[in-house]
Amino acid sequence: MNLVVVGLQWGDEGKGKLVDVLSQYFDIVVRFQGGSNAGHTVKTGDETFKLRILPTGAVRGKTVVIGNGVVIDPKVLAEETHILRQRGKDFELRISDRAHIITPYQIALDRLREKQKGNQKVGTTKRGIGPTYSDKHARLGVRVCDFYQNTRNRQWELMESKSIDRLKYLHNEEPTPEMMSAFSDYKVLMEGMSEYVCSCSEYLLDAIEDGKRILFEGAQGALLDIDHGTYPFVTSSNCISSAAATGSGVPPSKIRDVLGVTKTYTTRVGTGPFPTELQDDIGRKLQKRGNEYGTVTGRPRRCGWLDLVALRYTVRLNGAQYIAVTKADVLSGIEELDVCVAYEIDGSETYTLPSCNDSYDRLSPVYKTLRGWPEPKGGDWSEMIDDGYENLPGELRQYLEQAASYCGTEVGIVSLGPDRDDTIMTTAFEKAVKHV
Ligand code: GDP
Ligand code: IMO
Ligand code: MG
Repeated sequence: MNLVVVGLQWGDEGKGKLVDVLSQYFDIVVRFQGGSNAGHTVKTGDETFKLRILPTGAVRGKTVVIGNGVVIDPKVLAEETHILRQRGKDFELRISDRAHIITPYQIALDRLREKQKGNQKVGTTKRGIGPTYSDKHARLGVRVCDFYQNTRNRQWELMESKSIDRLKYLHNEEPTPEMMSAFSDYKVLMEGMSEYVCSCSEYLLDAIEDGKRILFEGAQGALLDIDHGTYPFVTSSNCISSAAATGSGVPPSKIRDVLGVTKTYTTRVGTGPFPTELQDDIGRKLQKRGNEYGTVTGRPRRCGWLDLVALRYTVRLNGAQYIAVTKADVLSGIEELDVCVAYEIDGSETYTLPSCNDSYDRLSPVYKTLRGWPEPKGGDWSEMIDDGYENLPGELRQYLEQAASYCGTEVGIVSLGPDRDDTIMTTAFEKAVKHV
């Protein structure tokens, strides 16, 4: 069984934690899209790791692969690899020769485009993600393989001259010294990485033939997907399960299984529609209890009720046979919980996400109220975790199972805290992940 783990909301669902928990059953962990806009947290005892570009499997010493669909900031990659090794983590790294590179030009253009958009800005992470994917698709991009020759090649020259034009004529800015020396600076960094560079597809297909098990680690979430998300308030890559195939060169027939990750409520960083957002005491309570601050930018995350209309849409888009539900501890102790089961637009109810952004201005969520579950004494969930899924409070199981049933999926994992040990797998999911 090769498995894809994807976010079902607007990112930060707890994918890093889940991939860390699951990677014990796999040989290789692969990132297939996004870049250092991602921030994936792993907590194990006293130690916390926040990974932006390396697959989370590195923390458990797995072989980790950065696929061709990822956009790489070489500085972040070098720094993160160094820090993790310094912290005693020993892992094998493979980097796709076809992955695109983020340069200081694209980082500057990300900032300038956001500024130009004024109050229509996306609220990007300003890590150069959008401009790098735009250049990739405009065939102006620079890839990992472009650094392994003696001089700047034609592709770098093209990207640089177009970027300088855009800086000067669209934004009235001159290139900085950092930009002008980027090729030689990055060449040094990339030479330090040369031993890890490979054809990702060939590497992974050989590994599968050798019987190795692969875990694909999604970044962002389906509602941020460039095609299927709340466009234009999205990221610039496809972040749904099917992107695991194009972003790694492993065909869908060799992947098959999908686990989608959702919180028990909803959060979003940056601007854009959010039908179930709570700008009241409950919203503030969730933000505080859930420590809802962006892993990369530190921005507060907007919080709201669980949106089952959006979740059903993303479960179906991803083909998620199982869901992992995180932060059940954060929602505990609230007597009544609302979940959104329909949207009302212009007097009629709809059960799917509108494609046009303007519809959100006229949309109001239709809620169903479910009973909340109690918080254990002193907030200590460990006994309940030891007792397993069947012994969780009935209200919690009902909440999870009603949500899964609405979306046409099954509960696979429940997370009751940030630590890797604060996790319960259902018997069916555990059997599937261990034995198939
Ligand atoms: P990712 O981007 O999907 O990997 O998620 P992030 O790491 O950006 O954000 C999730 C945050 O929630 C991190 O700080 C995690 O340590 C934390 N977290 C994950 N699962 C749980 C949980 O079940 N309960 C609590 N309280 N925190 C959790
Ligand atoms: P992980 O993998 C949450 C959001 C940004 C912004 C939009 C576009 O940790 O879940 P970008 O820099 O990608 O051009 O920004 O997408 N965003 C995320 N939000 N988690 C993430 O990643 C995100 N990556 C991008 O806040 O709204
Ligand atoms: Mg995150």
